[in-house]
This record gives sequence, structure tokens and C-alpha cells, in this order.
Amino acid sequence: MRKLVYYIAATIDGFIAGPDGADPTGPGGFWPIPEDYLRHLIAEYPETLPGPAREALGVTAEGTRFDTVLEGRHSYELGLKVGIPDAYPHLRHVVFSRTLGGSPDPNVTVLSGDPVAAVRELKQQDGKDIWVIGGGTLAGALATEIDQLVVKLAPLTIGAGIPLFGRDAAFEPRTWELTGHTVLDSGALFLTYTRRRGDS
Ligand SMILES: NC(=O)c1ccc[n+]([C@@H]2O[C@H](COP(=O)([O-])OP(=O)(O)OC[C@H]3O[C@@H](n4cnc5c(N)ncnc54)[C@H](OP(=O)(O)O)[C@@H]3O)[C@@H](O)[C@H]2O)c1
Repeated sequence: MRKLVYYIAATIDGFIAGPDGADPTGPGGFWPIPEDYLRHLIAEYPETLPGPAREALGVTAEGTRFDTVLEGRHSYELGLKVGIPDAYPHLRHVVFSRTLGGSPDPNVTVLSGDPVAAVRELKQQDGKDIWVIGGGTLAGALATEIDQLVVKLAPLTIGAGIPLFGRDAAFEPRTWELTGHTVLDSGALFLTYTRRRGDS
């Protein structure tokens, strides 16, 4: 069965964005993308680059990991506000929101229902793995369904911001097995953790 993978850039102290929601690797972000990080990302996860970045970098590879991306409304609106209603035209793009109403783009599906039910249905369908891009709130709502974490760890601490599973995450210990790792010269790490089932 296809997996739900939370593939996310995070600081050493566990934040995925600054307190104001600033995207760490976005324009003016607090983590200027190191060259070796970008090279690794293009080689291993080309489908996770937004469409405009793929175009600018001449990346056309379909990628092998994901064919679907799930996004919370706050994260989606970062692109929407700068005139990008579908940052992932090469993937099936699903946004969760109870307030957005209709979809601003024909390639983007907006769902207002329970994300857990939607993910369980998606997992039954054929395809590559499903990428939950974030943010923290959506990942927190989907925590029980996440089969794998791919943490792109930045060699940074920032002290405050949006945590990996959102500002309202509950205390719920879960066990993960380290099933892959890449250490880059810049100090960035790609850490793959697979869920050890048996706990909650
Ligand atoms: N580090 C990274 O790689 C990375 C990647 C992506 C995003 N981010 C950061 O994450 C930040 C946003 O995170 P966030 O936690 O504030 O917000 P978020 O998860 O992106 O979006 C939260 C919104 O998603 C919808 N949603 C969440 N759970 C839902 C549920 N159970 N049912 C239906 N809708 C649900 C709701 O929209 P409605 O209010 O419309 O109902 C909710 O307000 C961004 O600022 C971005 O910078 C970082």
C-alpha cells in the first residue's frame, strides 16, 4: 500500500517555520538553501520542487517517490498570495481547508472534510507515495496516518516558530526507526524515519 510521508525541512529544535509562518527556504527565509542540499534534492526528490523552481532549474524528471501532495491552507496560501495557485502542477495537489471554498485552480482539489478519512481513501488507490508537505497543523491532524518522516534537517536553531506537528500538538510519544540518512557537507541532513507500528 502507498505510504503517507511527511517530507519536511526542520531546524534542530524542531521548527518548520518561523513564528510569523515564514517559510525557512522561501524568499527572505532564515535558511538560505545550501548548494549541496539543492543538488541532493534534485537528484533524489525532483518532484518536490515547486513548478516555477523546476522550470528555472531546467528540472523535468518525474521523480520516483510521490505523485500526490497534501497541503494545509496556511501553507497553500503562501503561494496563492504571490500569484501561484498551483505550485505543484506535476503532482495531484490536494489542499485541506474549511474556509477556502472553491478551488482557485482546476488542478487543485480543496477538501473540507476529515483529512484522516481522505488519506485512508487515497492509500487504497494505486500510485506512488503521498507527500504531506505541511504545515504543522495539517501534519498534526494526520499524525496517526503518517508512515514515514523525511526530515531535511537544517543546521540551525531558531528558538521559536511553528513546530513539526503544529502549535496545538498533544503529548503523544511515537517510535520511529531510522531507515535512511544522508549527511551533506553543508551540515544539512536528510533523515528517513519509518513508523514502528504497534504503538498508537
Ligand atoms: N519547512 C517546510 O518544509 C514547510 C513546508 C510546508 C509549510 N511550511 C510552513 O508551515 C506553515 C503553516 O503551518 P500551519 O500549521 O500554520 O498551517 P497549515 O497546516 O499549513 O494550514 C492549517 C490550515 O489547514 C486546514 N486544516 C488543517 N487541519 C485540518 C483539518 N483537520 N480539517 C480540515 N482542514 C484542516 C485549516 O484551514 P481552514 O482554517 O481554512 O479550515 C487550517 O487552518 C507555513 O507558514 C509554512 O512556512 C514549512
